[in-house]
Amino acid sequence: MAMKDAFPYKIGYDCAGIVTEVGSDVSRCKVSDEVYTRLPEVSRGSLSEFVVCAEQYVAIKPPSLSFEEAASIPLAGMTALQALRRYKGDLAGKTVFVPAGLSGTGLFACQLAKHVFKAGKVITTVSTSKVSKLSELLGEGTVDESKHPPSNPGNQAKPANTTK
Ligand SMILES: NC(=O)c1ccc[n+]([C@@H]2O[C@H](COP(=O)([O-])OP(=O)(O)OC[C@H]3O[C@@H](n4cnc5c(N)ncnc54)[C@H](OP(=O)(O)O)[C@@H]3O)[C@@H](O)[C@H]2O)c1
Repeated sequence: MAMKDAFPYKIGYDCAGIVTEVGSDVSRCKVSDEVYTRLPEVSRGSLSEFVVCAEQYVAIKPPSLSFEEAASIPLAGMTALQALRRYKGDLAGKTVFVPAGLSGTGLFACQLAKHVFKAGKVITTVSTSKVSKLSELLGEGTVDESKHPPSNPGNQAKPANTTK
């Protein structure tokens, strides 16, 4: 693949921080505002100490979120949102399957499907080591296949779902 980028290659898209300088036309944020962003490709490089970004990509960080929490949201959240938007039709009331519900993207997809797209039921999968986190992080109704192997008809349980 031909790469047009020159070295040093700047990496990182998500970040949160404090505004140190604004251009004369900027109206949505000011110096000392706490903000977070998913940098556009032209501004990529959030692993730097400072980044420059057009104001349209910047949002004020909610006071309830730490910088680390805010910086963990944009790219994974946007990926989940874009995936759900690709569904042609209305998800309201429907059953939505999101694989890997405690992955970076899956955690957002489950919550967006339920609360923004108004899915009737959201079903997901997690590995056994994460089963104990399910009720706290996602919702209710778990089928633990290590205890209820699907190959044993006598052990079949109700489908897992997240309804929180
Ligand atoms: N994160 C982003 O911002 C972003 C943006 C664009 C595209 N993507 C792409 O989206 C995909 C997911 O990214 P992510 O950040 O959500 O990944 P992640 O946080 O690393 O999670 C990966 C998930 O895959 C599950 N998994 C692994 N092997 C599995 C298997 N054999 N069967 C079922 N589940 C399995 C794991 O589930 P358990 O932990 O429960 O085992 C884990 O939750 C990747 O292809 C990534 O490149 C991510």
